[in-house]
Amino acid sequence: MDGSTKTLATPVKMPLVTNASTQLVDQFGRHKHKLRISLTDRCNFRCSYCMPDKPEWLAKKDILSFEELLKFCEIMVHLGIQHIRLTGGEPLMRQGVVNFIHDLNRFKAHGLQRISMTSNAFYLKKYAHALQQAGLDDLNISLDSIHPDTFKSMTKRPLEPVLQGIAEALHVGIPIKLNCVLVAGKNDHEIVELTQWAYEQNIELRFIEYMPLDQPLHWQPEKVIIEDQIIQKLTAHFQIKKQQRQHDPATIYRLNNDYKLGIISTISKPFCQTCDRLRLTATGELFTCLFANAGTPLRDLLQKNDLSSLTTTIMDAVWHKKAGFIAHQQAPIRKISMHAIGG
Ligand code: 5AD
Ligand code: SF4
Repeated sequence: MDGSTKTLATPVKMPLVTNASTQLVDQFGRHKHKLRISLTDRCNFRCSYCMPDKPEWLAKKDILSFEELLKFCEIMVHLGIQHIRLTGGEPLMRQGVVNFIHDLNRFKAHGLQRISMTSNAFYLKKYAHALQQAGLDDLNISLDSIHPDTFKSMTKRPLEPVLQGIAEALHVGIPIKLNCVLVAGKNDHEIVELTQWAYEQNIELRFIEYMPLDQPLHWQPEKVIIEDQIIQKLTAHFQIKKQQRQHDPATIYRLNNDYKLGIISTISKPFCQTCDRLRLTATGELFTCLFANAGTPLRDLLQKNDLSSLTTTIMDAVWHKKAGFIAHQQAPIRKISMHAIGG
């Protein structure tokens, strides 16, 4: 593991005087520029690596309204957030999402640079054009297999609408990346084939190491396919060059000198020392880390419109962000799973 807490061992001092680009900083000096917002915990898929077998959905009344979300985003952009990614569950299951994206665009005059979405693409054929028109900048689409049987065994849903969604996104010109979570014994025998498929269409593919964020006791270390194993499988088929790591959570490889392949190796090579992300759940809890045991509830303050308390609460939560994955290893099993925090 090289997401070492060693590089993070000396906390820095909280800045007394700040400007917009420095306000979201943690005790280890990591600045936050990316925000992921879960619009709903609901999903029409049942990916075993993400959902409990019997999910209990949040009550609609407990979910932040778009007005509350816009207020939150306005504060966050003012504090230095440059990139907002909408997640779920499945974000296209939240009614009004297209208008919300349209409204978010107004923050581009104040420092927001990109609005993205992560989707399972099942409803994308219907929404792609409207999303593009509303100002969505790019999409990450989950695609664990290009074989209907494997796909169904992992997601419990058919593959065809997803492929149609991908085609439509390309047709309307939304830049896309594909996300594939590898689970040993499920889809790891298709690594080369999926890569070849994405390579031929020149769509960037990112393999994601399976993280222990699904239902308790489901994840096992033996089910994780790590970065080195993936590269080993691809070496016989492509000429592979590793790129210098940037802020992206993925390690980027160039295949045959042109195609870009990413691997998100949270388990084998955590990248906590450069983490620049924050997450908001659909109920308005701010999580400073995917592996944190609890979030900071913001909904009351949003409803009271108490901007000054909101700002201090957010800055304080960010400041106390722990070193990362390693620092959370001893945490008790938490109730929130991936579908509720948005990945
Ligand atoms: N481990 C790794 N990635 C996951 N995702 C969901 N659950 C897990 C997990 N346990 C990914 C999905 C999706 C993104 C939001 O998170 O594939 O692309
Ligand atoms: Fe960031 Fe937490 Fe992920 Fe590390 S584990 S990269 S700190 S979200």
